[in-house]
Amino acid sequence: MDSIVVTGNGPLNGEIPIAGAKNACLALMPATLLSEEPLILTNAPRLSDIATMTVLLQSLGADAASLQNDKVLALSSHDLTSTRADYDIVRKMRASNLVLGPLLARAGHAEVSLPGGCAIGARPMDIHIDGLEKLGAVIDLKDGYLHAKAPGGLKGAVIDLAFPSVGATENLMMAATLAKGSTVISNAAREPEIVDLARCLNAMGAQIEGAGTDRIEIQGVDRLGGATHRVVTDRIELGTYMLAPVIAGGDVECLGGTLDLVASFVDKLAEAGVSVEETGRGLRVRHDGGRVRAVDVTTEVFPGFPTDLQAQMMALLTTAQGVSTLHETIFENRFMHAPELVRMGAEIEVQGGTARVTGVERLKGAPVMATDLRASVSLILAGLAAEGETVVSRVYHLDRGYEHVVRKLSGVGAKIERVKGT
Ligand code: EPU
Repeated sequence: MDSIVVTGNGPLNGEIPIAGAKNACLALMPATLLSEEPLILTNAPRLSDIATMTVLLQSLGADAASLQNDKVLALSSHDLTSTRADYDIVRKMRASNLVLGPLLARAGHAEVSLPGGCAIGARPMDIHIDGLEKLGAVIDLKDGYLHAKAPGGLKGAVIDLAFPSVGATENLMMAATLAKGSTVISNAAREPEIVDLARCLNAMGAQIEGAGTDRIEIQGVDRLGGATHRVVTDRIELGTYMLAPVIAGGDVECLGGTLDLVASFVDKLAEAGVSVEETGRGLRVRHDGGRVRAVDVTTEVFPGFPTDLQAQMMALLTTAQGVSTLHETIFENRFMHAPELVRMGAEIEVQGGTARVTGVERLKGAPVMATDLRASVSLILAGLAAEGETVVSRVYHLDRGYEHVVRKLSGVGAKIERVKGT
């Protein structure tokens, strides 16, 4: 297995291009199942999760081609040959469950494996199921698969989500585009990826209003057509690379970034003593490499501080002046990076959903490993300013969500390389 070797190497300077959003693209791709006409996604990120979704869509009969160096995905679902999302694919990537709504709407039935637990928590699907049942689906669990049917077609309904789940909002929004009549999703997720999906669906002919607020209204239509859509910037990749010059010192412009995508994160950086400038081309972060002020962070749904930046923020706070606390409210088990950071000399106590981080002067490089995507990248960030060498193993987690991480960080002067495993 490959590993990444990072050596703390002083200030970083230059530009980092930010890719299209993984989590937007993973929701946009299944939208192809709603239409017989082609869906072209530009600014697609080059990630193994995108490859996994491609394989899933192909297993359902979709045609998928990667063009322009894999930055453009051309998808077409003229004829579906299957409505079954197999356990072998779903267990690798929970976002596979986003085919459920589109398949039900287009074919009237679907069999989708339950994803099972994942490294960051149990992550059930009850909110997706409740919502689809409100739209008229009948769903049974058999042999680990959700068997969903809508014999008379889906019908618009009022759905009040128990929690503003991102995936449930996406599944229901897609299903409702082809339902008869109008649907209202209240307590809907407001993440930028939801807005991006609604924009794409509307370009395909859907009638969706209110995406980005907690009340989304969808007027069902008879059919959807094709569209070409540019995937929104990845706000989590953006926030991750914005932290690099804060941790290592330097002056880095993250190209494609805008403040609206990361406002609560930028507020926390300001509280820690770091300012961010919107340049028109992206977000520029400058820092002298000195220790930041300790801050308290609570993860929340958008527009609050994103859970997907919690691990990276913790990496920064390990060397802050004072004691910081991080409260994780979205997932029950998302502090696996903490013991790894402790191996690098950090002082962290975790109790339930709260981590108390006492800032130390400097971290020391160490061999570390992580069990999820954001945890892995937090260890790379920590390694950028640590004394000596940090070796991060289990790099396949990183490949799921960060394209060309070595190229992007070495492009601004980091000493980082990927070492082939045996
Ligand atoms: N939840 C339920 N029941 C449901 C659905 C969700 O209890 O039916 C719970 C989950 O267990 C979790 C919370 O609600 O505790 C939030 O889950 P949500 O459905 O909002 O998350 P998701 O759609 O499964 C997406 C991202 C995650 C990101 C979360 C929160 C994708 C493909 N994934 O997951 O991204 O952390 O929203 O913002 O969009 C990542 O990229 O590293 C990642 C984990």
